[in-house]
Amino acid sequence: MGPMPTSNIARAIPVAARVNRFSYAIRNIIPEAQAVEARGVRVRYLNIGDPVAFGFQTPAHLVEAAARAMRDGHNGYLPSQGIPAAREAVSADYTARGVNIPPDRVLITTGTSEGIELALNALVNEGDEVLVPSPTYPLYTAVLAKINATPKYYRTDPKRDWLPDLDHLRSLISPRTRVLVSIDPNNPTGAVYPPSIRRAMIEVADAHGLTILADEVYGELGYEGTVPLLGTLDPDAPIISFSSLSKAYLAPGWRAGWLAVGTTPRLNDALAAIRKLADGRLCSPGPMQYAVTAALTGDRSHQTAFRRALVERARVTTEKLNAIPGMTCVAPKAAFYAMPMLSLPRGRTDEDYVLGLLRETGILCVYGSGFGMPPEQGSFRIVFLADPGELDAIYTDIGDFTRRYLERA
Ligand SMILES: Cc1ncc(COP(=O)(O)O)c(C=O)c1O
Repeated sequence: MGPMPTSNIARAIPVAARVNRFSYAIRNIIPEAQAVEARGVRVRYLNIGDPVAFGFQTPAHLVEAAARAMRDGHNGYLPSQGIPAAREAVSADYTARGVNIPPDRVLITTGTSEGIELALNALVNEGDEVLVPSPTYPLYTAVLAKINATPKYYRTDPKRDWLPDLDHLRSLISPRTRVLVSIDPNNPTGAVYPPSIRRAMIEVADAHGLTILADEVYGELGYEGTVPLLGTLDPDAPIISFSSLSKAYLAPGWRAGWLAVGTTPRLNDALAAIRKLADGRLCSPGPMQYAVTAALTGDRSHQTAFRRALVERARVTTEKLNAIPGMTCVAPKAAFYAMPMLSLPRGRTDEDYVLGLLRETGILCVYGSGFGMPPEQGSFRIVFLADPGELDAIYTDIGDFTRRYLERA
């Protein structure tokens, strides 16, 4: 064989077209922050919803369960659906919360994220349409970009506590609509939907043969206690529910989650499809499945302290941000995010504001357009897990920057 032609060695190898469609703003913005750090400015990372990064500790009995599983030799491959004990624990937890789901309709996944990816891949063809909220948690649109399906954004309204605009949602339905995504409690807005809205969403799904993907990962982080599962409203609704240990059990790095497929026979093919796809990824991480069992069958008292901490931080956030001229912030009702909005000068975008804030103050938030919001609306997301004193100082800096930003315009 002769030498390789040099022209081929010099040429960049092309990547797949789907990468151009794909974006995940929460992490895509990090290189901007690193550039600021390289100038010697301390960056305050308020972009990723990781309680552990802010000092909240994973409950010891979960760490022990995962470690014990490893010591006990549970280090081999597991069934694709997950170990029976973990599936039984999820089933018992849903049943105790009013939704009867047998263990054989539960799958243990590599976080909520993998559950979402499996379900969308099982249900959605290229060119199909999926209803996602605006703003949305961006993983949904990122996965749809890979599938080459189309997100249809239904508005949620900041003037009405970020509740879905049902008329707008209904107006988006077409023969290609397959799935309705419900993120409740919501990231990025902190909204919790009342039963009337939830019922209407189920009615829409029933009327149009849609599957509801119910992202309930913040369900145990409602400020007034655990938020009811969507399935409690109708045991026959076509709902696939997702959650994980990442948020309410303070172990996001473990990538341990589950999905639960509603008992309606309408979802039997979807369940079979999800199982088939799950076979191809072998299994989710083994030792963490023992921690899922421990989490859902053991002590949850850490949640009381965690919720109390969140309520206090939400209060500081809402008070301080609403005091900034031009800014409004709806009070969150769950989780650890807020979505303030700034009335922007004409021609400016949320990204322009957020990058200005980062470069001048080192405070890193994520622009609302990364969550599917119109860029001129001036929304951005804050993760408010830092301690209240630090948050207070951060919001003072945001206020000072915002005044300068608006004056300069
Ligand atoms: C609404 C929502 N769904 C899913 C996820 C992903 O969670 P997991 O770590 O369980 O994959 C997140 C993480 O921030 C989220 O906010």
